[in-house]
Amino acid sequence: MEKRSKFSGKLGFVLAAAGSAVGLGNIWRFPYLAAKYGGGVFLLIYIILVVTFGFAIMVAEVGIGRKTGLSPIGAFSKLNKKYTFIGVLASCVAAIILPYYSVIGGWVMKYFTLYATGNHALMAGENFFNSFIGESWQPLIWLVIFIGITTAVVLGGVKNGIEKASKILMPVLIVLSIGVAVYSITLPGAMEGVKYFLLPDFSRFSGQTILAAMGQMFYSMSLAMGIMITYGSYLRKEDDLEKSVSHIEWFDTGIAILAGFMVIPAVFAFSGGDQAAINAGPGLMFVTLPKVFEQMGLGTVIGMAFFLLVFFAALTSAISLMEAVVATLQDKFKWSRVRATLSVAVFAILLGIPSSLGNGVWSNFKILNMDFLSFMDFMSNSVIMPIVALLTCVFVGWVIGTKVISDEVKISSRFAREKVFNVIIKYIAPIFIVLILISSVLDGLG
Ligand code: PHE
Repeated sequence: MEKRSKFSGKLGFVLAAAGSAVGLGNIWRFPYLAAKYGGGVFLLIYIILVVTFGFAIMVAEVGIGRKTGLSPIGAFSKLNKKYTFIGVLASCVAAIILPYYSVIGGWVMKYFTLYATGNHALMAGENFFNSFIGESWQPLIWLVIFIGITTAVVLGGVKNGIEKASKILMPVLIVLSIGVAVYSITLPGAMEGVKYFLLPDFSRFSGQTILAAMGQMFYSMSLAMGIMITYGSYLRKEDDLEKSVSHIEWFDTGIAILAGFMVIPAVFAFSGGDQAAINAGPGLMFVTLPKVFEQMGLGTVIGMAFFLLVFFAALTSAISLMEAVVATLQDKFKWSRVRATLSVAVFAILLGIPSSLGNGVWSNFKILNMDFLSFMDFMSNSVIMPIVALLTCVFVGWVIGTKVISDEVKISSRFAREKVFNVIIKYIAPIFIVLILISSVLDGLG
């Protein structure tokens, strides 16, 4: 077997893990959720959840990974053989998400190239998005290109592939995000949008707000899918685990907030404060924004910068998804990195095909009344992920005991938020996760 490699230090780990966390969830999902669920209220609740739940569960996962030095299946089984299945489920989440996530990554690349080649005016047309994703070949070609790039990075391994890519892509992503956000909030009329995003509107607050924030938090921080366990297994014992987790969560939250500033004020400025425009939901990024860019002074440059940063965000996330599955195959079946990576790539392309064609020629094929992409999204995010999160908490809190993780954290530093960690993992998180699970399943089926 190949020797397990490590990140070169804390920075490499933080950037790679932040690369996983910062993704389509931050840029495409967070702004429309914030707009829908009451602006500042949602933001506040989200931040509270990140520093409590998100923090505790991420420490648990990174701790499990670093302690065992293994990817999810091996890690759970090393800690307690009877609970190997949690690792199996976690790996399944990653394997299910990768194909359809890559389909969307392909769309983002297509949008970027339209700006880069000066063909962006097309996108302002009414039905551009739906007719593009409904085509058979184009989206598939972009899917293959997206997976190809992801594969190339993962083939490079932990230090020379993932860490190197993250160290280049993440700083560029920050700079582009700040640039686009600053431009957006200085547009005439944008201030209304800034207010809409930041000021709390309690009339849009309900129990649903908390559940939506919670679900978003799990997805955004890449929790409950074996990724943080896998990346944790590459963290050196001397690197400060608690601080790293803290940095990752602020990185992720910071980019989500910046995305709010990029998207909401711009849409406001160009729709004259029309709430329907901002509540376009999932269509916001692919339909509304290109129209907004088309009307702006520097629209082409901003559009290009925007879709480039979204592409980088999606790419580093896809890399982590692929790595979680690759590491599992390496650990479990002793496959070489090349063999494992190429197998996962082929698998992702094959499963990506129905996700892509489900928007076009195969749109009559429905499972539980959902097209294939939506179904995969539903199964992974709304069903298996909460289950894995719940099992992880119960496992750490009640089976192996939180002390096992605290001790792991303390190898590299003192554990400042140990009490918070214990209480959340043992009591608070399990209760809340059960609520999310019930609500999201009802939601999806209803
Ligand atoms: N955290 C990523 C995001 O916000 C999504 C993601 C999910 C990444 C699963 C990897 C794995 O988009």
